[in-house]
Amino acid sequence: MKLSLFTATLLLTGTLYASEAHHSSAKQEGLHAIKLLGSTLKTQLKEKLQLDSNGTAAIAFCTAEAQALTQKVNEELPSHVKVRRTSLNLRNEANKPDALDVQIMQNYKKAFAHKSASAGLITKVERKTFTRVYKPLTVGATCLKCHGENISPEIATQIKAAYPNDAATGMKLGDFRGVIVAEVAKH
Ligand code: HEC
Repeated sequence: MKLSLFTATLLLTGTLYASEAHHSSAKQEGLHAIKLLGSTLKTQLKEKLQLDSNGTAAIAFCTAEAQALTQKVNEELPSHVKVRRTSLNLRNEANKPDALDVQIMQNYKKAFAHKSASAGLITKVERKTFTRVYKPLTVGATCLKCHGENISPEIATQIKAAYPNDAATGMKLGDFRGVIVAEVAKH
């Protein structure tokens, strides 16, 4: 129920955003940015996973392109909106969390551990100069290939080579993986 409400909110946000960007709330702008980054990365990942069954092309793609795609999405957004991914189980140093991210993610981690949260659980944080909107990400079946417990030797080798300090494997279905966070500057 929560999830479908969230989806409905996103659909609505997309419409509002296109026609009346100035009147949409910071939360709506944030959700729109989150949806844009999330769907861009997921679509590309799915395409790559279909191309090769063992996932080596897909992980090469994530390693090479995830940051560039994130940058591209940000270029499409208004200049007062920024969106990125981060995690407590970090793979890429470029996605390092700040203190506020850590605090929010620790709350999510506890909630997911007690099964009292769903992926629709949005957190909004107000500060003097910005609003942040957080959306949690959980480990789904497609994520296990590169973040799970039984990673193929080929993929493990690629992870080790690109991210020697990787802390994003050994995860289980339904684990809290991290967040997509949008920051909307106040003007
Ligand atoms: C084909 C391998 C692969 C799959 C499948 C995959 N990831 Fe990743 N993931 C990566 C790589 C490589 C990175 C580091 C590059 C980047 O995104 O900046 C990464 C980074 C991330 C990050 C950014 C934080 C960090 O640790 O750097 C999040 C969040 C994330 N993945 C979540 C997911 C989720 C959720 C799924 C399932 C929907 C998923 N991943 C599926 C390879 C994968």
